[in-house]
Amino acid sequence: MGRLRRLVESVVSIGIGNVVAVLRYTRERKRLERRYPPPTPFPWLWPRPEVGATVVGAADGATAIARATGASGGVAAGPGGFRFAETWADPGQVAEVVATPRGARVRFAVAEADAGQPGADADEPGAETGEPAAGATRDCGPATLDLSFLAPDLIEVTWRAPLAGLPLPERDWPEVDVEFIPAPPGEGWILRTAALEVHLAPDARLSFFEPGGRLLREEWPPLFAGENVCHRVRLAGCERFHGLGERASPVDLRGGTYRMWNRDPGGAYGPGADPVYLSIPIYLSRTMAEAGHEGSKASEAGQRGVDAAGESRNPSPGYLVFYANSHPASFDLGKADPSVAEHRFAGGGLRYYFIPGPAAQVLERYADLTGKPPLPPLWAFGYHQCRWSYYPEARVRKLAADFAHHDIPVDAIHLDIHYMDGYRVFTVDKTRFPDLAGLAKDLAAQGIRLVTICDPGVKRDPGYFLYREGLEEEAFCTLPDGEVVIAPVWPGPCAFPDFSHPAVREWWGGQYGRLLGAGVAGFWQDMNEPATFVAAGEPTLPLAARHALGDHRAVHNLYGLFMNQAAYEGLRRLDPERRPFIVSRSGWAGLQRYAWTWTADVRSDWACLRQTIATIIGLGLSGIPFSGSDVGGFNGEATPELYIRWLQASAFMPFFRSHTMIGTPDQAPWSYGEPYTTIARDFIRLRYSLLPYIYTLAWEAAEKGWPMVRPLFWSEADAPTRESPDDDTFLLGDSLLVAPVTEEGATSREVPVPAGLWYDFWTDRPLRGPARVRLDAPLGRIPVLVRAGAVLPREEPASSTGARGTERLSLHLYPPEVGASGAGHLYTDRGDGYGPCRLDRFVVTRRQGEVELRWVESERGFPWPYRRTEVTLHGVRDARGSRAVEPSSVWVGAVEDL
Ligand code: GLC
Repeated sequence: MGRLRRLVESVVSIGIGNVVAVLRYTRERKRLERRYPPPTPFPWLWPRPEVGATVVGAADGATAIARATGASGGVAAGPGGFRFAETWADPGQVAEVVATPRGARVRFAVAEADAGQPGADADEPGAETGEPAAGATRDCGPATLDLSFLAPDLIEVTWRAPLAGLPLPERDWPEVDVEFIPAPPGEGWILRTAALEVHLAPDARLSFFEPGGRLLREEWPPLFAGENVCHRVRLAGCERFHGLGERASPVDLRGGTYRMWNRDPGGAYGPGADPVYLSIPIYLSRTMAEAGHEGSKASEAGQRGVDAAGESRNPSPGYLVFYANSHPASFDLGKADPSVAEHRFAGGGLRYYFIPGPAAQVLERYADLTGKPPLPPLWAFGYHQCRWSYYPEARVRKLAADFAHHDIPVDAIHLDIHYMDGYRVFTVDKTRFPDLAGLAKDLAAQGIRLVTICDPGVKRDPGYFLYREGLEEEAFCTLPDGEVVIAPVWPGPCAFPDFSHPAVREWWGGQYGRLLGAGVAGFWQDMNEPATFVAAGEPTLPLAARHALGDHRAVHNLYGLFMNQAAYEGLRRLDPERRPFIVSRSGWAGLQRYAWTWTADVRSDWACLRQTIATIIGLGLSGIPFSGSDVGGFNGEATPELYIRWLQASAFMPFFRSHTMIGTPDQAPWSYGEPYTTIARDFIRLRYSLLPYIYTLAWEAAEKGWPMVRPLFWSEADAPTRESPDDDTFLLGDSLLVAPVTEEGATSREVPVPAGLWYDFWTDRPLRGPARVRLDAPLGRIPVLVRAGAVLPREEPASSTGARGTERLSLHLYPPEVGASGAGHLYTDRGDGYGPCRLDRFVVTRRQGEVELRWVESERGFPWPYRRTEVTLHGVRDARGSRAVEPSSVWVGAVEDL
């Protein structure tokens, strides 16, 4: 029944007319796969014959087992029936290590006779079952290793050159002081900077240490088979992993296998779906402190922090690793073998970056490497309303009027695919929207921006200017025989721009002018995995598709990123005075330079509400600070309660938008009547009142690459204690802890209170952590805590960010413990454009009987935007309440201690 319903749903959503195109494409794809077989199958199809055995290959029937595999031989047939006819080999023994200005270059002695011998190291994965194999040959390509420090805490490790032209920003890294220490013969080599020590063993194992201290990571030499790469890392028992882009998984990824292949899950997904739209080969590792261990005590140089059982004796502050590889890959983080992480790439070389340190520090460095997110316009942090699709124009006008009628703030209305003429990108359906510019103008007068969806597929229609231009410009992806690749999406058969070509990006970027000119303020880039409709197999272009940068295997995961680059750069050229707002479904490392993202087509159910919180935390830990989910969920009908709970959680997320699928009832703040409308209004107003804080966090993200939504362990960097992160609780910046309700019917929930003093946002009740407390959560409220020492700037909510009052700013003081101090800052500017800005810093100190707030400094040229500044003191008895103050120092005296 469920399957039938899903079938009907997907037929309806892709359009009945498209069914034939889909069947044709499915058949055509099969033909293409036979004609142009991929050089290697996808890594998640590679055989994994036995637990503990890592890799196996077989060449033409002659079995060959690479060193350290331990698997029995034989030609391995994967689930697709393909034969994996390659032999894995490691680089061999180190022959020569030469110091270079930033590190070292290593050459290997490739001894054919060694190949296939079981590892000398009994602790290599699978070595216990290893058998020597005859006839193996090494195929490691140029067996060199380059270790190059870009900064004292950032090393680039290259075993095999990555894809040329991988889109990472160019940057001149300052010189780094690197000490090169050849160890006694047979013991390896050490490279040391002020922040990191890298040990190279004679058998090419690499280990990463804090200088003279704790072990951070230990790697086996990679294995190569043709262009495939397998890289393995030894795991500590109490190590946790986070990141990998967008994952429908818990925040802690340990114990799972995750695929790198941006994929449309087909209109609906939920927890456990993998992969989804946005993969990023980056993760953070944290090693948990164990009871009885002194986490911060450095061990002797060279001493391992991992004992024989794989348990950490000296928990490390963690690290980040980023694999500069866009090819299909799978990351097994201790699933097949709990003590091994195994990364397999179907091509793309092996270059990765290693950064030691806790989350805040490594993400800042990672942003140096892949780019910082530009500051978005303020309006982007307002409330957005969407559905598939609002049309015609009258309905959109009515929607805007409904917001005014219900007195609910709103900043943007999104137009889904029906605003286009037959789903032709960059066109407007003149029947539904005869005067888009007039509509945009009228909405703008009400403080509402229009955002339009843009899909990459260009309808194959000789009468359509964009298709014709694309053909003339040779802008589309082709097959090896030069034919333009055609695959169905909303408009039926489409051609796909090759965004990896700079000239195509420029051409495409210019097209946004058509909509900008009509007053459209932002762009929602969808289906850019790229997604296509198929009846079976991968819902994307054929693997044989060609891009300027390489074949589809190489470029698939970069497609969305390049499309966003085209849009961002186009918008900067077309409208240099305004900051682009782009929200994209797909992307790769560095997406933050151009666009936001959202979790897209999740089901409207409680499990998905809960899941999206973990997904958004994970995105933040992958360098994407601006994201959110469809309020109410996308696929299905949200109950009023689910909608409200989703909205409450999303009010504290960067992207705050209601959206729902075609054919479902509206999901707008008033759709469910009372008491839901009032609750929705209250939370949207609360969001608007917090905009000074939220915008300051956005500025912080732009400066440091930090996520706005953070896991609770963010602030426990020095003494991590959380075994597994709380997947349904998050920090918004440093000051707020948000505990959404994700259980149907719940009227209270248990809240993890991190170490220190916190205040209940609603009652000012002080709470001390570490603790777990049950707090009231009636339908109209979710638990929110404020960290002691916070200075939370709030303003009067307005009907939109454009109408925000500059009458009054309230600085909400949450006093720290006696003798302690806290700090806060406030970033202000015009809210858009590139004009002057201002940063104010506050310090709040508590002494016996008094709380002092100091307005420490103001930098930069923007004038203080508020007429009045008010201080509200929370959480202390006998506080005098609010006081109007000038923007200078103020004393609130004579308060009693708690
Ligand atoms: C995709 C998007 C969804 C959108 C729909 C129609 O499924 O993820 O948000 O509404 O396409 O454009």
